Amino acid sequence: MYDSHEESHRGSATDEAAAYERGAVSPDASMDDHQVEGALRPRALDEFVGQERVREQLSLVLHSAQRRNRAPDHILMSGGPGLGKTTLAMIIAAELGAPLRITSGPAIERSGDLAAVLSTLQEGEVLFLDEIHRMARPAEEMLYVAMEDFRVDVVVGKGPGATAIPLDIAPFTLVGATTRAGMLPAPLRDRFGFTAHMDFYTPAELELILYRSAGLLGAPLDEDAAREIAGRSRGTPRIANRLLRRVRDYAEVRGDGRLSLATARAALELYEVDSLGLDRLDRAILDVLMNRFRGGPVGLSTLAVSVGEEAETVEVVAEPFLVRSGFLARTPRGRVATPQAWAHMGLTPPPDAAFGAAAANGNSSARGSGNGGTSAP
Ligand SMILES: Nc1ncnc2c1ncn2[C@@H]1O[C@H](COP(=O)(O)OP(=O)(O)OP(=O)(O)O)[C@@H](O)[C@H]1O
Ligand SMILES: [Mg+2]
Repeated sequence: MYDSHEESHRGSATDEAAAYERGAVSPDASMDDHQVEGALRPRALDEFVGQERVREQLSLVLHSAQRRNRAPDHILMSGGPGLGKTTLAMIIAAELGAPLRITSGPAIERSGDLAAVLSTLQEGEVLFLDEIHRMARPAEEMLYVAMEDFRVDVVVGKGPGATAIPLDIAPFTLVGATTRAGMLPAPLRDRFGFTAHMDFYTPAELELILYRSAGLLGAPLDEDAAREIAGRSRGTPRIANRLLRRVRDYAEVRGDGRLSLATARAALELYEVDSLGLDRLDRAILDVLMNRFRGGPVGLSTLAVSVGEEAETVEVVAEPFLVRSGFLARTPRGRVATPQAWAHMGLTPPPDAAFGAAAANGNSSARGSGNGGTSAP
């Protein structure tokens, strides 16, 4: 299957770190997720929650193309795992009433693989190329031409006698998805007429997604439970849906099937997802940082050894969320726990503790000094 995590030549250490077994709050899809996600996917743009701007822009792109009776511009979607890229690609095809072909970067190892796909597209078909940043180089060049001129050059023969036979292909719409837009070569990026940047979702949006999913699962979800689950979902619909399923399981086995606040809290405690969505590794990092290194600064490798993980794993799996939610600051001198982190862990920082903001200024004399309002309750 195209979503297997096999390594391609453009895979990196980062992919290995991402394979770290993260459990309940991993933004990446597990086998279990793959099985149920299909059922929870919104099918129309109107059902797609949040991402207001993307939705509005996309709706314009699609409708104007339909009005002109042409295939719309190629569309690139960038954003972290679990934010709805695949979902949106399927919606695009559905809104256009067009057939959808799905493949992915790692599945295209040679340009011939891509030629085979491109030359069999029907007119107006939507080609969804997931993880487009992991496609083989020669295929990339073939794709440029196909996107621009709806042509593939099929190379026949080898060496000096090789000739390129141009082959016209049906006008199609490429929908590319990437979790790392920065890794796309500029010429490829430039050939997309429209780029959708997917953001993290607000708690209110996640609540809407949870109600919708609970309805589909036939699980009665209380308002305060929805709020609780949304708050722990790290801005990510996939995590929200997964936590919802864990809570539902708990409610069915240990409760009366109703998804109440108490059930939600008990279930999420069992899965070690705390009130703000931090898991065991996140908390271990903060714990070591505060209790052993007085809040930092401490270097990444030291920190990683102290929690018994690879530096890669700490950096790729845990840090982005900790930094994004203001618990951890990366400074030139190392990782620093923020006042918010001290407060969340229920600890009082020592009077000389370094805080993210001060240390981030690169001014070592700005350390600590118990500056007002920053200490934990
Ligand atoms: N805006 C949304 N509204 C409702 N549900 C959503 C939304 N976005 C995502 N979901 C749900 O979240 C799950 C994951 O979404 P999806 O598979 O589209 O993410 P992705 O961005 O393709 O992730 P990956 O990078 O891992 O491929 C799906 O089950 C889908 O139902
Ligand atoms: Mg996807």
